[in-house]
Amino acid sequence: MKKKIILAVIAGAAMLLPFACTTQAPVADGTVSLDELYTTRRSIRSYDASKTISEEEVRTLLAATQQAPSWANTQTSRYYVAITPDKVAAARACTGDRNAQNVAGAPVIIVSTFVKGQSGFGRGAAVNEIGDGWGAYDNGLSNAYLVLKAREMGFDTLIMGFRESDRLRTLFAIPDNEEVMAVIALGYRAAEPNQPKHKALDEIVKFF
Ligand SMILES: Cc1cc2nc3c(=O)[nH]c(=O)nc-3n(C[C@H](O)[C@H](O)[C@H](O)COP(=O)(O)O)c2cc1C
Repeated sequence: MKKKIILAVIAGAAMLLPFACTTQAPVADGTVSLDELYTTRRSIRSYDASKTISEEEVRTLLAATQQAPSWANTQTSRYYVAITPDKVAAARACTGDRNAQNVAGAPVIIVSTFVKGQSGFGRGAAVNEIGDGWGAYDNGLSNAYLVLKAREMGFDTLIMGFRESDRLRTLFAIPDNEEVMAVIALGYRAAEPNQPKHKALDEIVKFF
């Protein structure tokens, strides 16, 4: 009987292990593994308003995005960083009511754009049917580096596709040759997120 109880406790602890991993804060000393970043990075919709992030830290974060690959090394991603309280509030107000409420405590809001007509283009014309989709592709890759680096630095993020691009363009004086993509909230989580369900691997992969 005693042996059965011990086995049940061990089995229970083993089942909880993945969740223990996801709630563990990463150490910001460069020793965190990529797998740990993957599992602890989550979309955070509740931020600790008492914590701030410096411009220097945001510079370190954005420097990591410069390591991302891009079409012919065109490096067309651009970032507009709201870091003063007024600008953060104004940028947040461009993300829709629900997003704005969810990121209310985030001290930094970053607008991600890309320069059109370069990535996926050669001699002024689209190289193939994807056109400026390659600029969006590069921008998403760049954003992926951003959110993972953020996690390594102990920060949390929310990528927001619901945003008012025209208002953001005016707010940050974003030129017409750039496409406004995601708005990314940056801060510290105030609550642990729900774990999203992921499809079975065989639903998204086919081997030939
Ligand atoms: C391009 C893009 C747009 C998104 N837009 C929003 C958004 O406007 N609001 C929001 O709460 N989450 C948004 N998300 C977050 C997704 O809902 C989230 O990544 C997904 O549910 C998986 O959860 P996880 O990020 O915790 O793994 C967006 C994610 C991406 C990649």
